[in-house]
Amino acid sequence: MSEPRNGATIFFLDPPTEEQWSQIQGVVDQVEWDVSHWNYFLILSRLPYAKAVVSVDDKGKYVGILVFAQPPSPHVSYVGLYIVSESCRGNGIGQRMWKLMKEHTDESRVLAIDSEGNMTDKYRAVEFPVPGPTWQEMSGPVAQLNASLQQAIQEKDCRFKIIDPNTVMDEVIKFDSKIMHLERPEFVQQFFRVADGKAIIAEDGSVVAIGATMPTFLHEKQIRIGPLYAENFNCMLMLLSALMHDVKQPEFLIMAPSETEKGRMFIDFLTEKSHSSLGSLFMRSFDRPYECPTEWSKVFALSFHVASPTMS
Ligand SMILES: CC(C)(COP(=O)(O)OP(=O)(O)OC[C@H]1O[C@@H](n2cnc3c(N)ncnc32)[C@H](O)[C@@H]1OP(=O)(O)O)[C@@H](O)C(=O)NCCC(=O)NCCS
Repeated sequence: MSEPRNGATIFFLDPPTEEQWSQIQGVVDQVEWDVSHWNYFLILSRLPYAKAVVSVDDKGKYVGILVFAQPPSPHVSYVGLYIVSESCRGNGIGQRMWKLMKEHTDESRVLAIDSEGNMTDKYRAVEFPVPGPTWQEMSGPVAQLNASLQQAIQEKDCRFKIIDPNTVMDEVIKFDSKIMHLERPEFVQQFFRVADGKAIIAEDGSVVAIGATMPTFLHEKQIRIGPLYAENFNCMLMLLSALMHDVKQPEFLIMAPSETEKGRMFIDFLTEKSHSSLGSLFMRSFDRPYECPTEWSKVFALSFHVASPTMS
């Protein structure tokens, strides 16, 4: 706990309780970040390595939060959410929470953060000088996406079967780790328990694509799509078509890698064929050079929100 100043006390929670997570979510709801509309907090609350620093006012209300994750692997400390309530900003609360987070971060871990707009410039000027990958947020009408998928998938490949990823979880974890080069079985398991997922398996039982859509709470008219990992573009289209089949929401939201060949291909498809529009650009930054050997040629969309507890 740090000394009260500016009418707020700062606490380190490791890990936060369910009640504390729900108060953390209350602060995120105030800024209406997309992350607050799905089960992100449910997943976080089930990960033993998600931590938080919170700022509490004299009435016990949370007025600032900083959520970070320190998974067993990769050896990073990932800052996922960093917010101070609007009426309390500019009083040094953010900096104090930041300092306490740093005190609980082993220096050997690489610091990573995702941000958009002017915070990226600020982070890169201060503690995160190394640019990482960027993602393009996109949205569009579900009906048009479905129509464009119908047109693009010429022939369904009958050698592939589309199934519930929870029924082949070991294979799903293997596929995820082959693509992301991360050991994160806990996260993958928790994620697919909460998400509406699909996996494509080949004749030999191996997984060749995984993906998910997310139920939403507040923005009922929007469905979040992601991740989409697939061996190739056609496989990804088949997967996406299966994921979108029973979707009731009229609009979708997706986050695609904006600097990779396959990511660009997908962004072009969504813009040209699915009448999608470009949203914000999100950028990852590191405190020192960090190479995560992701198979970018197989990543078409990231798991929403980019502030994923273990690097998307
Ligand atoms: C960013 C935020 C958490 C800072 O909290 P705060 O209590 O207002 O911050 P402080 O009073 O301690 O700091 C004052 C300044 O330092 C900046 N700052 C704070 N922490 C920082 C950090 N870790 N790195 C760089 N700059 C930082 C603040 O943006 C602010 O700059 P400004 O006056 O030019 O806006 C707060 O402004 C906020 O909630 N903003 C909206 C949400 C947001 O953009 N979060 C970051 C998303 S990646």
